[in-house]
Amino acid sequence: MTAAPAPVRIGPVELAAPLLLAPIAGHTDLAFRILCREQGGVGIAYTDLLNSRALLRGTPKSLQLAATAPTDAPCGMQLYGNWDDPLPEAACWAVENGAAVIDINMGCPVDKVAKKNGGSLLLCDAVNTMRLAERIVRAVEKHSGGRVPVTAKMRLGWDPERFVAPQLARDLERAGIAAVTVHGRWTVQFFSGTADWQRIGEVVRAVDRIPVFGNGDVTEPEHVQQLMAASGCHGVMIGRGALRTPWVFRRAWEGLRTGTIPPEPTLNQKLACIGRHIDLLEQHHSLEHALHCMRARISWYGKTMGHVGRLKDVIRNSRTFKEMRDAVQEWIRPEGDGYSRAWGRDAAPEAHRRPRESSAQTEAS
Ligand SMILES: Cc1cc2nc3c(=O)[nH]c(=O)nc-3n(C[C@H](O)[C@H](O)[C@H](O)COP(=O)(O)O)c2cc1C
Repeated sequence: MTAAPAPVRIGPVELAAPLLLAPIAGHTDLAFRILCREQGGVGIAYTDLLNSRALLRGTPKSLQLAATAPTDAPCGMQLYGNWDDPLPEAACWAVENGAAVIDINMGCPVDKVAKKNGGSLLLCDAVNTMRLAERIVRAVEKHSGGRVPVTAKMRLGWDPERFVAPQLARDLERAGIAAVTVHGRWTVQFFSGTADWQRIGEVVRAVDRIPVFGNGDVTEPEHVQQLMAASGCHGVMIGRGALRTPWVFRRAWEGLRTGTIPPEPTLNQKLACIGRHIDLLEQHHSLEHALHCMRARISWYGKTMGHVGRLKDVIRNSRTFKEMRDAVQEWIRPEGDGYSRAWGRDAAPEAHRRPRESSAQTEAS
């Protein structure tokens, strides 16, 4: 029998599981965060990166990205900006608007951000970054009465000549940062190559007390244990893997707790999860946002579902919540779903190989 891992805390916030849903711009909206939490095993989920100035101006897009709900707790709000931006003020705004944790983005490699607006730029100037971190920590501490911790998410460094993460994490700890997450890539890599889990271990060993969360290329529940073993990190953040399989947290957490990873969900269960995602999009977002989201997301979901080309087509051509829901419903097999694992073109039941009349009409309309 495996001993359950010790609880992980980010400052005063105790995580129910040491697994974090990563911020993924354009994907980790409120509906998706709640979906992952409902599947189980998520200790904390983060918003997309939020621009400090836009947040304080109250632009509708930023407010939508920062929207949270009681079922979205604990919620980490991730802010980005540089030393001249009003990050402390934006962090206080986030505290007032439901953030349980404030995260500072120190890893975004995208030119628009990293050339002047923060992100990985913060890896390049330790002095200014530390001053900024101290200002944010002080402001949030005062504003929240010590209730809300501040964390940082970084890469290893800009490039292999500048492996700054261990020293930076150590300095940030002294500045009052309550945890760091390390994506095991260099900024110059963007998302190419593989994440270096060994180097994440160097960051773990560089800090005294705060938890370090490892991140990068965790797509299967087994990877969580492997990353923790390779680096000694206290928990794991999952990004793209969750877009494909929002149930990865539940399986990984079960594996950590009991030593046995439960089987992959059946096809019916995966379809039910997609249906639930559509419901949550309807509850929390506009139709326009939902259609845009599901058109992109159905490809990710489809990757683990065998031959579901027609389902993807119908979802991509849907124009209402009902059309999307009906498309999913039509694939659910009332008599059971024992075929999901090995399911492919040949194993697909006849009814699923040919479009039914209703979905053909939907597509044509
Ligand atoms: C499309 C996309 C958007 C991302 N947006 C953010 C973001 O807003 N903030 C952030 O800190 N990281 C962002 N990331 C990086 C992820 O949080 C994560 O660090 C990275 O994808 C590696 O983890 P993974 O292999 O589990 O996906 C993004 C990654 C992708 C692919």
